[in-house]
Amino acid sequence: MNIRPFREEDRQALKQITTASFRAASVHGILEGMYGQLRESSWAERKCLEIDADIAAEAEGVLVAEDEDGTVLGYITTTTDEECGIGRIPNLAVAPEAQGKGVGKQLINAAIERFERLGMDLIKIETLATNEVGQNLYPRFGFKEVVRQIHYIMRTEDAQRL
Ligand SMILES: CC(C)(COP(=O)(O)OP(=O)(O)OC[C@H]1O[C@@H](n2cnc3c(N)ncnc32)[C@H](O)[C@@H]1OP(=O)(O)O)[C@@H](O)C(=O)NCCC(=O)NCCS
Repeated sequence: MNIRPFREEDRQALKQITTASFRAASVHGILEGMYGQLRESSWAERKCLEIDADIAAEAEGVLVAEDEDGTVLGYITTTTDEECGIGRIPNLAVAPEAQGKGVGKQLINAAIERFERLGMDLIKIETLATNEVGQNLYPRFGFKEVVRQIHYIMRTEDAQRL
C-alpha cells in the first residue's frame, strides 16, 4: 500500500468510498435514516460536497491510499490553520472491502507527519459518539477528548413555543 497526495482523477473514487462507507458515520446519513431523503439531494450527495470542499480548501492536504495496482483504498483530508497552529482532519474513510487491514491507521500516520512537517502545534479530529472505531482508535494515537457536542433536530411543525 502506498500513500500519496490527491490527484484530480481520484475525485470520483473518493466520492465512491465516501458513499460506500460514511452513512452511519455522518450526521447527513443518520438524518436520512430518521426522515428519509431530505428534498433534492441524498445524504451521500451532501457528504460528497464536503469532500469537494475539503479538496477546494487544501488539495495538497488530501492524502490517498492506493494498492499496488493503483486502486484507491481510502483517503484522509487535512487542513492547516497557521493562525492558531491547529491541523484538522475533517474526513477520513476507507473502502468497506479494505477496512480492518491497517489502511486507516496508515492514513492517520501520514496526516500526523504532514502536520509535524508544517509545524502545527495541535491536531484536531471529530467523531460521532456512535462511531466505535473512531473512539477506540483516536485515543491510541494520543488524541484527548475535549468536549461532546449534541445534535438536536425536530420537524418545524413539532416546535413548541415557550
Ligand atoms: C474509521 C475507518 C477509516 C478506519 O479504517 P480501517 O482501515 O478500517 O482501520 P484500520 O484497519 O487501520 O484499523 C484501525 C483500528 O480500528 C479498529 N477496527 C477496525 N475495524 C474494526 C471493526 N470492524 N470493528 C471494530 N473495530 C475495528 C481496530 O481497533 C483497529 O486497530 P487494530 O487493528 O490495531 O486493533 C473506517 O472504518 C471507515 O472508513 N469508517 C467509515 C467512515 C468513518 O467512520 N470515518 C471516520 C469518521 S471520524
